[in-house]
Order: sequence, then C-alpha cells, then structure tokens
Amino acid sequence: MGSLTSDLELKYNSGSFTNPLDSEEFRRQGHMIIDFIADYYKNVEKYPVRSQVEPGYLQKVLPESAPNNPESMETILQDVQQHIVLGITHWQSPNYFAYFPLSGSIAGFLGEMLSSGFNIVGFNRISSPAATELENIVMDWLGQMLKLPKSFLFSGNGGGVIQGTTCEAILCTLTSARDRVLNKIGRENISKLVVYGSDQTHCALEKAAQIVGIDVKNFRAIKTTKSSSYGPLCDVAKQFGIWVHVDAAYAGSACICPEFRHFIDGVEGADSFSLNAHKWFFATLDCCCLLVKDPRALVSSLSTNPEYLKNKAIESKQVVDYKDWQITLSRRFRSLKLWFVIGNYGVANLRHFLRSHVNMATLFERLVNGDKRGGTINEFNRELLESINASGKAYMTHAVLGGIYAIRFATGATLTEERHVVVAWTVVQQHLEAFLSAFKP
Ligand SMILES: Cc1ncc(COP(=O)(O)O)c(C=O)c1O
Repeated sequence: MGSLTSDLELKYNSGSFTNPLDSEEFRRQGHMIIDFIADYYKNVEKYPVRSQVEPGYLQKVLPESAPNNPESMETILQDVQQHIVLGITHWQSPNYFAYFPLSGSIAGFLGEMLSSGFNIVGFNRISSPAATELENIVMDWLGQMLKLPKSFLFSGNGGGVIQGTTCEAILCTLTSARDRVLNKIGRENISKLVVYGSDQTHCALEKAAQIVGIDVKNFRAIKTTKSSSYGPLCDVAKQFGIWVHVDAAYAGSACICPEFRHFIDGVEGADSFSLNAHKWFFATLDCCCLLVKDPRALVSSLSTNPEYLKNKAIESKQVVDYKDWQITLSRRFRSLKLWFVIGNYGVANLRHFLRSHVNMATLFERLVNGDKRGGTINEFNRELLESINASGKAYMTHAVLGGIYAIRFATGATLTEERHVVVAWTVVQQHLEAFLSAFKP
C-alpha cells in the first residue's frame, strides 16, 4: 500500500499517459527499431567483437532509480546506441568465432517479432490451436530433414516439441527416463539409478542428473572417440531398458546435409534427439527442438491437470497439450520463427549456408596446418587467446583437449565470409609473432 503523499504524487505528477498498444504509435516506433537494427547490422563489423567494458560500467551512466516520467523511444534508443552497444559482445559480427555460432537470419528475427507481436500463450491446444499445430508440423519437417526414423515423428506416433534450451530438453527426457525405471523398481530405489554420458558430453547432463535426484557418484562418463557411433551403444542400452538421448545441440543442424548425416548414424535406436535451432539453424534464441519416440513418457512425468485447464479437447485425448511436454506451463509461439526460417530459405538454401560454414572451417584448418610453428603455439595459447580477444578484431574461445589448452575457432556466424576467416588467421599470426618476440630469451 502506498502512502497518501506518494499516491498524490502518482496522481498529479506522473507525466502524460499513452495507450501502450496504440497501433499508429506502434507503427512509428516499430519502424524506428527496425531501422536501428538494420543500421546495427550495417555497422556490426566495426565494433570490437568482445565487449571491452569494465565491470560496473553501466551503473555509472544510468540513473540510480527508475524514471518517474516517461522517456521518448528516441531518447532510449540514443542510450542504447551510446551505452548498451558498447557493452555487447557481438555474436552476430562476421569476426565472431567463439563458443558456438548463434546464426541469425532475417526470417528468424521476423518470425520472432511476429511471435512477440501476437503475444499468445500456447500451453494447451485450445489456448491457440495454430501454435500447437504449427509446432507439430515443423517438428515433423525437421525430423524428415534429418532423416530421423518415422517413430520420432507425429506421423509415426512419436513427436517433437520446441523448448527453450538443451538444458531443459535434457532435464525433461532424464525425468521421463528416471520415472520409467522407478515405476518398475519402486521410487524408493532412486539411489540405484545411474546416468551414463560420453566423456565429451556437455555439462548439461550432469546438471540435469543432479536436479532429478541422481546421486552424483552415479554419474559415469564413457570414453568415446570422434568416430564412436550410436548404433552399438543403443543395442546395449536396449538390452537393459536404458533411455538413450542424443544431444546434437550445436552441430546436429549440419546433418540435414546428406554428406554429414553419417555423424548421427545409429540414432534410429535412440529414444530422443535434440538440437538447438538457435545455434546453427538460423532461428533466434531460444529454440531447442526435442524429438521423442514415446511422447507418453514425457506426458506421464510432466503433466498437470488443474481444473481451470480442463477442456473437451484434452478429454478426447486427440490433441497435443504441450504444457505436458515441458517444465513450464506458459510457452512462447516459437514454431513461427522456425517455420519462417525453413519456409523462407527452403532446405536447399539451408544446406548451402551450412556447407559454406563447414568450408570456411576447413579453410582455417588449412591455414593453421600450413604454419610450421604449430608446436610452439600450444605453450602460449592462454595468453595468446587473451591478447587476440582484447584486440577486439576477432573473438575465439578455448577448450582443454587431452590436457592441452587449445584455441577453438567456430565458424557459423551468418555474416562471416572467407575473407573474415583469412583476416582472423592474420590476427592470430600477428599476436603470435608479438608474443614470441616478447618471450625470446
Ligand atoms: C552439445 C551441447 N549440449 C548442450 C548445450 C547447452 O545448451 P543450452 O544452452 O541450450 O542449454 C550446448 C551449448 O553450448 C551444446 O553445445
């Protein structure tokens, strides 16, 4: 409850009221934002890729408390240009080669915009039938593009769902896997459950295991190689009733190209498969596509049935209620952007984009292999990487492989061309040379 003074302050000193959804004002401000973003893309190459700001920089320039009176969108955009862009690491820069690509596209952005524009909540079919049905359709399209067996598709009694991130998708599948076993052996036996992952597995799996209550001692890493295939693993898993999930978050997208499909050979025997379409499939964050053979396992672990959500369609059991396929109740209309991406580029163009990124990675590999000082680079990699990134000319991150601190170079940013890859290599060489001469005894 507010005090009398502050209530009066609100009433008489609160600036002008506008309708927050006035359509003409929306048109005016919306055009302004589109222009701003278009200019951002025009200039993105000029910005230091990794933001150079010091911790706390923003607090120094923004007011300490929320403005009582409205600021115009023009003023806010000026602040964005002046203060926010400075503190952004430019994931969409053509000189971005860090972590993983977050491949943007016009179709993805516009699909996202439309989804925000409709601002609906598709938790069950009746709350927006188009949201559920479009998601069913694009998930089947994706499964077909990846040549997954029909049992992963709605048309084969499986099906797909779009969640936010892979962490969520793994958590949901692990919850279902846990319950499938506990329903047989009794919930009191949870301490006996074991989760296996490849020694290359993302930490998302370990985190999910902790959340679903698996004893940390029962998380096992299996030694695998680049060429390990899912087939034999799935055969063993089947004998023991183990759920197999294939996490293809980053590189799974490439498997829509026939020449890369062999990387997921054996997926036929898995129970579930996921990939992040926001990583390397031109949809914007967030868009994790999870396909499962037995959606009933998800529903049985994740469904809720409060009175206010009951309706005839649910009772008929003829429809998908996506709230029962995920952690949260509310959900965004993410299928729109995936539909825009697939529809607006077509499979042929998507394959072409992905191949061009792979070719650029191969080009970089050739450049590195052509440098005779390869052996020396490892000794300085950590400092070398920091100095490259501090220059703002390119951004790369690292991995520790077999005990060696390696610089990772991930191609896939939509605006990257071969010339950027060549320049990035020049930047590496320049910093390496400066380093070697500084370290000379
Ligand atoms: C193979 C793999 N699994 C899981 C993740 C985590 O993905 P998310 O951030 O969508 O949860 C990543 C992303 O870095 C990944 O590359």
